[in-house]
Amino acid sequence: MNQAMGAGGGAGQRVVLDGDYGIDDALALLYLAGTGAVQICAVGTVHGNTGAVQAAHNALHLLGLAGLPGVPVAVGAHRPLAQAVKYSSLVHGDDGMGGQAVPPTPDRRPVVESAAEQLVRIARAHPGECSVLATGPLTNLALALQLEPELPRLVSRVVVMGGAVVEPGNVSPLGEANVVHDPEAADLVLSADWPVTLVTVDATMRTWLEPSDLARLEAVTSPAGVFVRDALRHYVRFYDEHYGRRSCPLHDPTAAVVLVDPTAATEVLTRPVRVELRGEHTRGTTVVDRRDNRGPGRPEGTAVRLVLGVDRDRVVREVLDGVLAVS
Ligand code: BDR
Ligand code: CA
Repeated sequence: MNQAMGAGGGAGQRVVLDGDYGIDDALALLYLAGTGAVQICAVGTVHGNTGAVQAAHNALHLLGLAGLPGVPVAVGAHRPLAQAVKYSSLVHGDDGMGGQAVPPTPDRRPVVESAAEQLVRIARAHPGECSVLATGPLTNLALALQLEPELPRLVSRVVVMGGAVVEPGNVSPLGEANVVHDPEAADLVLSADWPVTLVTVDATMRTWLEPSDLARLEAVTSPAGVFVRDALRHYVRFYDEHYGRRSCPLHDPTAAVVLVDPTAATEVLTRPVRVELRGEHTRGTTVVDRRDNRGPGRPEGTAVRLVLGVDRDRVVREVLDGVLAVS
């Protein structure tokens, strides 16, 4: 990363990251830092893989490793809008980093404003110039929409990792984790009038690492690379035990690649999406209105750009090249 580019690295579009800083969120952040393709303005954290405070410590540590210690990190929502909080500790470890998290240091503290306040402040300061990459439950984005109803006109686009269309869910038969962890927030964000790209598990479950990719990571020597390699061992162990593959899919990094280069998406469907909020077996399901009907009963609502497929080899190569570029 070229230090001359500024505190957030990168010369391109301004991006506010919002995530639940687990292992694949970490890969996404390091990839973005390593490519230098975007300027990371700020990071917000949210409950999900771990607690929002732990996620902030993880993000601060990652930014330090990536040579971006000046990027502010704001702690966001500790719990979903309308249900009890639940962490994905089995997948990411209690600390979100597969047991690799380091204790916070006095010089690396989150800022005092909340993640939603931070997002609104930055969007107001740079109207139309900032993108948002959300890689966790959407609670902070929903709160930001409530704080500033004009937010959809202040941010340029929102890229979210979440949802399942044809692919089965990963935490319930039809539900993907980031949506299931806060269905009310996801419904608000997906139905708001702003340009949302939803990078679904239909796409991300096609980005598993091959043995040669894992071997590339095993050979790293940089502090950032070693940190993420050790955390990934936990992640791979989870997928080995639960999916029978000594590998892992790149959920959040795939969304980050699509943010940087939308042409990495090879299969896209643009349709309104709502989130099921009541079903006993379907709460947290993304309901895509795929009807082509143009008459009465036609699909209504904001069209979401659903990414259902990506160029797998390109995504994996981009992510590994970016992560390994962090010195
Ligand atoms: C999503 O859930 C989390 O566990 C991952 O970090 C990713 O954001 C995948 O469904
Ligand atoms: Ca995540």
